Amino acid sequence: MTLVLLIAAGVFLPLTVFARSASLEGRQSGTGITVNLDQKYQTIDGFGCSEAFQRAVQMSKLTEAQQQYTLDLLFSTTKGAGMSILRNGIGSSPDMSADHMVSIQPKSPGGPSSTPNYVWDGSDNKQLWVSQEAVKRGVKTIYANAWSAPGYMKTNGNDANGGTLCGVGGASCSSGDWKQAYADYLVQYIKYYQEANVTITHLGFVNEPDLTTSYASMRFSGSQAADFIKVLHPTLEKANLSSVGINCCDPEGWGSQASMLGQLGSVDSLISTITAHSYTSSPGSPLNTRHRVWQTEAADLNGQWQGAWYSSGGAGDGMTWANNIYTAIVNANASGYLYWIGAQTGVTNSKLIRIDGDNVTPSKRLWAFGQWSRFVRPGAVRVGVQGAPSGVRTAAFQNIDGSVAVQLINSGGSAANVQVKVSGGSGFTSSAATAYVTDNNHDISDLTVSLSDGAAAASVPGRAMITVLLKQEAAPPE
Ligand SMILES: *[C@@H]1O[C@H](CO)[C@@H](O)[C@H](O)[C@H]1NC(C)=O
Ligand SMILES: *[C@@H]1O[C@H](CO)[C@@H](O)[C@H](O)[C@H]1NC(C)=O
Ligand SMILES: *[C@@H]1O[C@H](CO)[C@@H](O)[C@H](O)[C@H]1NC(C)=O
Repeated sequence: MTLVLLIAAGVFLPLTVFARSASLEGRQSGTGITVNLDQKYQTIDGFGCSEAFQRAVQMSKLTEAQQQYTLDLLFSTTKGAGMSILRNGIGSSPDMSADHMVSIQPKSPGGPSSTPNYVWDGSDNKQLWVSQEAVKRGVKTIYANAWSAPGYMKTNGNDANGGTLCGVGGASCSSGDWKQAYADYLVQYIKYYQEANVTITHLGFVNEPDLTTSYASMRFSGSQAADFIKVLHPTLEKANLSSVGINCCDPEGWGSQASMLGQLGSVDSLISTITAHSYTSSPGSPLNTRHRVWQTEAADLNGQWQGAWYSSGGAGDGMTWANNIYTAIVNANASGYLYWIGAQTGVTNSKLIRIDGDNVTPSKRLWAFGQWSRFVRPGAVRVGVQGAPSGVRTAAFQNIDGSVAVQLINSGGSAANVQVKVSGGSGFTSSAATAYVTDNNHDISDLTVSLSDGAAAASVPGRAMITVLLKQEAAPPE
């Protein structure tokens, strides 16, 4: 049932709006912002982080209560950031010394066509546990990403220090061609997770293929990556794992991925998601691809630990990260955005949550992610929005459940009053509005919002990010 009132100008207004807004006199003024549901951009897969390189082991050393608190901070959509993507590291190391990620085949089976001797320890550097806990909290997207193949499959005989996979173009080894063996190995890793009821949805076979470094690393050009994808894709299909998407290629920067794309043309139809990091160049404009694109690793690698929202606009500030995500999603068409580490010990800013003994301290970077991730859920479509006051950046999304999330970041020092309306769609009428704020004093706290004539009025505090969530409720019974 829809009751409508005919008002002077001939505008029809659902009665429920009158019933639900406190009063019409309470009407606030503010800059009008209009969301346009008919202007559609990319679909969002989500936001996330990683516990690779034994960071999951560090988390597992907390007391049970602090483990649960940390997992909630990362993945709960009511108590934390509500991250929706977890990126795991597929081990390549022969052991677990230091922060090495141990391989599921630490020793060579002899040669590329020898019977494999896989070993599953049921832990995977504690990442299986983190994955299961993430799934319990609603995470459905698990990205398993190898930094390198095991050393015996590579030109340099070592999983660290670069080298490449024996058998791809320009990489011939006396031990033979290991492409198929490496594809089988990655498929086996996915099966171990499957047996533990964790569905890996995305698979990456290399990390930062443009960097040679002292930890697990493997070089690939775009055409060498294509050589391997031609083997990996049919191997996944044969194992009934064609639903697992192949991600490529996680280079150090957005620009590096742009230059690899040309050489991936021959395998374009075999790729699921294009992935790149933010270190040597950050996402500023869209990559030239029809695939979804994720920014899969970014962090403040240099700063000393600091948890502030806004200190001086520095690289570690929460608001800086709220803006970094904005730029990737709105200006560079990203469908996913991942920080490097979720929770970790030590004094750097390369994590969102600091573990110190049994103390767990979230930074405002975590809450910046939450302002996006809790309200822009997987499958949401970015939609048009216009009219933001100067100094305020705005993005809008329609979720699968129909709700509309509007993100506003105010970089100015004083509050900005806004009135958010939704147009288009099949006649979306906001009948419930909630709003949430993060700034120096709040962590996704409730913010006052009033709904009148379908417009949600709120005040965005200076140097704050808010999310306005608009729902269209079913008409109440008579
Ligand atoms: C996986 O799920 C099945 C069916 O619910 C259950 O029987 C089995 O014990 C689970 N396995 C693990 C390792 O959790
Ligand atoms: C794949 O699925 C098909 C049909 O469900 C089944 O016949 C086949 O045995 C499966 N193959 C593997 C490797 O699991
Ligand atoms: C944005 O990404 C989508 C895939 O998610 C693609 O279809 C679209 O063409 C991209 N838009 C631009 C402007 O690059």
